[in-house]
Amino acid sequence: MNRGRLIAFEGIDGCGKSTQLERFANNATNAGHDVVVTGEPTTGPTGRRIREMARSGTALSPTEELRWFIEDRRVHVREVIEPALAAGRWVVTDRYFLSTVAYQGARGLDFEQILADSESEFPLPDLVVLLEIDPSVALERIRSRGGVIEAVFEQKEFLEAVAEVFRAIDRSYIERIHADATAEALEAEIFDRVMARFGPTVG
Ligand code: TYD
Repeated sequence: MNRGRLIAFEGIDGCGKSTQLERFANNATNAGHDVVVTGEPTTGPTGRRIREMARSGTALSPTEELRWFIEDRRVHVREVIEPALAAGRWVVTDRYFLSTVAYQGARGLDFEQILADSESEFPLPDLVVLLEIDPSVALERIRSRGGVIEAVFEQKEFLEAVAEVFRAIDRSYIERIHADATAEALEAEIFDRVMARFGPTVG
């Protein structure tokens, strides 16, 4: 059995990542791939706790935040990602370790260190679809869909800092896509670029 593929969608809040991930997963399934869709923070106990703390405005230090996200990822990798990869499936995840690099990096931690530690602990993604967008456009999208701008994670200066770290990460597994386009145009571009990377013969 061939090992599957790990494809992560990344970007700042409001970049359109979740919509595009869903469309990509459908397109990949229709093209005959065995796709599993997942995401972080997870829907398991640790991920739920992270969301609760974000909602209630619980103040965590950057280091505590880092620990929570890493712990959530450990369980995610062990229970969902690894088994699916071992079964030859395409794992499409809404956020993975580059989110920790960018978000906790923007909280003041050493992002190169988080990146190095993550790459040594967790499976490397075969591909990261990184949706890049101006933070003010992203915030406008969050507001227009009636979203609440959550404390800490979704404020403008903070999202600017997150976007800056995303821009600074230099890895060959990253496919950067300018996300200020229609959902249809983006969908087509993402599918073409992923397929171009993996080649037509890959199962
Ligand atoms: P998000 O993708 O918005 O999840 P949902 O739409 O299901 O609420 O992620 C929640 C927030 O968590 C988001 O603002 C980014 C942040 N985050 C980190 O700060 N570090 C991480 O490692 C991850 C995975 C997410």
